[in-house]
Amino acid sequence: MNVLDFQAYKNCAEKIVMLTCYDYTSACIVQDSDVDAILVGDSAAMVMHGYATTIPADIEMMCRHIESVARGAKGKFIVGDLPFMSCRTYLPDTMRAVGSMMKARAHAVKLEGIAGNSDTITHIVKSGVPVMGHLGLTPQSVNQLGGFRVQGRGDRAAEALREEALACERAGCFSLVLECVPEELAAEITASLEIPTIGIGAGVHTDGQVLVMQDLLGLSADFQPKFVRRYLAGRQLWRDAFNAYTSDVKNGHFPAADESYGQ
Ligand code: KIV
Repeated sequence: MNVLDFQAYKNCAEKIVMLTCYDYTSACIVQDSDVDAILVGDSAAMVMHGYATTIPADIEMMCRHIESVARGAKGKFIVGDLPFMSCRTYLPDTMRAVGSMMKARAHAVKLEGIAGNSDTITHIVKSGVPVMGHLGLTPQSVNQLGGFRVQGRGDRAAEALREEALACERAGCFSLVLECVPEELAAEITASLEIPTIGIGAGVHTDGQVLVMQDLLGLSADFQPKFVRRYLAGRQLWRDAFNAYTSDVKNGHFPAADESYGQ
């Protein structure tokens, strides 16, 4: 898949499947899968580094994850998340951040929110870098939103989101993530835009879906929002494997003779 395929998929009503990924080993497995594209999200700060929000993510963290993923998933389209505040100081700083992520081998960047970002998005796009927008629950603004909660409920909030979505398209975004938005509103926005929408907690009518890998694999302990479908009981499976290993070592069953070197 390349950036043009996002539009082509929407035009022929084929769903776009995205998954987050942050490390080399997982990226090799995604490479072998049918997943269309990878998001190296700033959720890395939470699921890979244990922070409570995405705010501690910075360019160095993001670039290290993008490089690792790019080494493993050589054939997948990779979107790198621009971290907190990286686009809100000076344009030269923003462009350096974008440049670093592209040199780390992202194929596009994702930028949260549109208020005050339109010109920046247009400048990045005109510089040859595709931009994915992100509206609804924008986790970098969690302190302003008052928590991780559904956005766009009520007439005024819904209208504001509709306008913001159009502004993302006008600014030059090639696609738009809609996070934690009522299903009907996400459907309306999807129908009103030329560019494809990628939903997370936004119902079934968006042009594609994205999930955080750790959520999909059932590895997250205490994070179970209703929009996550767990395709594996990963936590139990990992713990059972760790316990089986511990038991084998304690009982002298590991390593066996054929797992040991002879003279
Ligand atoms: O950082 C991330 O993983 C994201 C997705 C939840 C869309 O932005």
